Amino acid sequence: MTDKSTSWAYAEGLADEDRAVVRARERSLELGVSPVTPGVGAVLTVLAATSKAQAVVEVGTGAGVSGVCLLRGLPAACTFTTIDTDIEHLKAARQAYSEAGILASRVRTIPGRAGAVLPRLNDAAYDLVFIDADKPSTPAYADEAVRLLRPGGLLVINDALDRDRVANPAHRELATVRLRDLHRRFREDERLSTALLPTGDGLFLASRR
Ligand SMILES: C[S@@+](CC[C@H](N)C(=O)[O-])C[C@H]1O[C@@H](n2cnc3c(N)ncnc32)[C@H](O)[C@@H]1O
Repeated sequence: MTDKSTSWAYAEGLADEDRAVVRARERSLELGVSPVTPGVGAVLTVLAATSKAQAVVEVGTGAGVSGVCLLRGLPAACTFTTIDTDIEHLKAARQAYSEAGILASRVRTIPGRAGAVLPRLNDAAYDLVFIDADKPSTPAYADEAVRLLRPGGLLVINDALDRDRVANPAHRELATVRLRDLHRRFREDERLSTALLPTGDGLFLASRR
């Protein structure tokens, strides 16, 4: 196998970002938030555009980079729910949506811990769930997401390769081990079809049958 880092950098560099996303990235930096990479943002827009989604949930709003990328692809009638513990992050994200020309009525921002908010959302009511929050909790949020998805719905997990640790069995940190377990468990789950993309720091996809 050849070293893929040049191709990875090429793919990330190919993504085209407009002024609203660039500003949201700048605000992410000011707030100490790590936004999705340009390559991940581009994949999110394409997945959203092909999803025909009516309802989407994002876990981990940040300063709105991933939200703008998703909303850019989603149909105008789709409602977008995004959850974050940090009020300042939600405020920055709302500014990013506004600068991207997205109507405020399309977005529901929920302040709170995802572990408390997700159990309150309805079963089988969402077409796409994107997870990008506190990393050790990703597997717990992913289990909730499978419950939330309609048949045909899609789960997308960011940072699924955990800074290249997941692929290296020598790394035995708890969050890394949990991610490995999640990949295997979902791969064997008969309700799901799964794929792991090396984009950004890894995007794990699971579609609900
Ligand atoms: C990696 S950033 C999200 C970046 C965002 N997806 C983007 O691309 O712009 C993670 C976010 O998760 C939020 N967060 C951390 N713990 C959380 C929790 N338990 N529930 C909900 N959000 C949480 C943080 O406040 C932070 O804004």
